[in-house]
Amino acid sequence: MMKLKVENLTFSYEGRKILDQVGFCVKDGEFVSLLGPSGSGKSTILKILTGVLAPQEGRVAADGKEIRGVNQVFAYMPQNDLLFPWKTVLENVCLYGYVHGNLEEARREARENFPVFGLAGYEDKYPSQLSGGMRQRAAFLRTALCRADILLLDEPFGALDVITRGEMQDWLVKMRKRLNRTVILVTHDMDEAIYLSDRILILNGSPAKIGGEIVIEEKDRGREWLYDQGRLRRTIHQYITGGISPDNSKEREDG
Ligand SMILES: Nc1ncnc2c1ncn2[C@@H]1O[C@H](COP(=O)(O)OP(=O)(O)OP(=O)(O)O)[C@@H](O)[C@H]1O
Ligand SMILES: [Mg+2]
Repeated sequence: MMKLKVENLTFSYEGRKILDQVGFCVKDGEFVSLLGPSGSGKSTILKILTGVLAPQEGRVAADGKEIRGVNQVFAYMPQNDLLFPWKTVLENVCLYGYVHGNLEEARREARENFPVFGLAGYEDKYPSQLSGGMRQRAAFLRTALCRADILLLDEPFGALDVITRGEMQDWLVKMRKRLNRTVILVTHDMDEAIYLSDRILILNGSPAKIGGEIVIEEKDRGREWLYDQGRLRRTIHQYITGGISPDNSKEREDG
């Protein structure tokens, strides 16, 4: 059974249609990227999943059960890292522990994970004392500690300089096994999507729809592998610009 099934999402802001019959599925444990240009509606899709926005049409189901409104299926990392400046890093990371009441448990688990997330020794510092990359990792850790089946990451590295972003991507590639979760990553960075994903869903058009899908089976990924993916980049670019018809849109990396 599919972990997540999204069908026919249609959404308008103030009468302007943003999403047109967007549908996709995600398997348990799969890492899927939603790739599309700025303003194409990627964050809108995540907000519909979390229940922050209600679609005019369409359905979302997890484990075969329809979800409506705010729910516990998703752990959401919003587009802008939202650490509270007046709370320490540990307090920020345990925020959901505070919300759900089991604070001791949350603190213990968070402390165990500080070294894994490259934050050892920064538990009692404040966000302003961290680098941008560390702040992103802290926000990521908070999301990962949330007891939800599916992680929704909205451009988690988008605000970082290109070198730090690359380091974060390398780190996430190594973390994937350990994280062992179903992930939907939103990005407009083509290389980031190629590097990290089992499958890439490409949004195009206005209003946006899923204009293409690419499966990437490579298990052993590194920067050298990424540099060589010229053909994938070309295919993705064609999808984004609408150059391939959606009818035969299942392109494989080896096909
Ligand atoms: N609250 C709102 N009211 C009206 N229009 C909105 C609102 N939020 C977003 N939009 C519009 O909806 C469209 C999709 O926005 P969305 O934030 O989902 O794009 P995105 O793909 O996440 O872009 P980016 O990559 O820049 O984050 C944009 O054209 C945007 O201007
Ligand atoms: Mg966005």
